[in-house]
Amino acid sequence: MINYYKNLVESELVNYFDEYSKNSSYSSKIWEAMRYTTLLGGKRIRAIMCLEVANLFNVDIKDALPCACSLEIMHAYSLIHDDLPCMDNDDLRRGKPTNHKVFGEAIATLAGDALISFGAQLLVDKLSKKYSSDLILDIVYNYLKTSGALGIVAGQVADIEAENKQIDFENLKYIHKYKTGALFNCAVTIGAKLADLRHDILLKLQEYADNFGILFQVYDDIIDCTLSTDELGKTAGKDNISNKLTYVSAFGLDEAKNIFYSLIDKNRAILNELNIKSSVFEDINTMLIEKVKGK
Ligand code: IPE
Ligand code: IPE
Ligand code: MG
Ligand code: MG
Ligand code: MG
Repeated sequence: MINYYKNLVESELVNYFDEYSKNSSYSSKIWEAMRYTTLLGGKRIRAIMCLEVANLFNVDIKDALPCACSLEIMHAYSLIHDDLPCMDNDDLRRGKPTNHKVFGEAIATLAGDALISFGAQLLVDKLSKKYSSDLILDIVYNYLKTSGALGIVAGQVADIEAENKQIDFENLKYIHKYKTGALFNCAVTIGAKLADLRHDILLKLQEYADNFGILFQVYDDIIDCTLSTDELGKTAGKDNISNKLTYVSAFGLDEAKNIFYSLIDKNRAILNELNIKSSVFEDINTMLIEKVKGK
């Protein structure tokens, strides 16, 4: 099922890029740069989570597809900007040279900017064929909030400012909650909005997403120092080189792994409480656990 979702999202992303870039009046280069990172691959976990929530609550997957794609578009923006020399200064992303290495810093910055608005534009265009203006407004509001200073940007600012500083556990949690967790919260929230779920169920699913955001970034912190550059598709050991505040730098590798596993258990309990049986959510867990184990 994960691969089915992944293929659907990837082919729809190509359709969207083809459709919208045709109307570009000036440079095709910006579209090339936008496509490059977005279509380079990746696990597509945010899109998959959105589709799975929709599917679990009887929304047609095809109706949820624009939302899933917009999440991957927002994610691509965050990766391009995260890799810039003024941010994490990374040369490798998804096993290929980073956006600014291929297109230069100016175009990479602009490609990130353009992706944020492209994702929002798509939501309005594509959802209006099926959904009410009120629902679209709610979804676009969530999307925009997540992309900016009340979401990813807040976490990224805190992440950059925590470099070379003393360990602050509250700040660490804040960084992970926003730089990474915000987008997972958005993915699940949007899927739930499409399904028009009861408020108490929405809140439980958001708790799941918030936990997932933290455990996902803990996983990323762990594999940064346990896997090779080849296995990661990004430069190994980068957090240590940059003196980043991570779960590994704050707690050590073994304790970071314990925290990761306890958050996995907590999330399984939340799904049990909701009486949700999802092989997709469990397959995502397995994928992360195997990497953490080093398989
Ligand atoms: C990388 O996310 C950025 C983080 C939030 C850690 P992913 O590990 O999901 O990256 P892709 O999409 O699979 O490349
Ligand atoms: C990712 O954090 C947060 C983003 C918003 C992209 P990292 O800086 O740890 O992500 P990677 O390791 O470069 O993918
Ligand atoms: Mg970073
Ligand atoms: Mg980075
Ligand atoms: Mg990382």
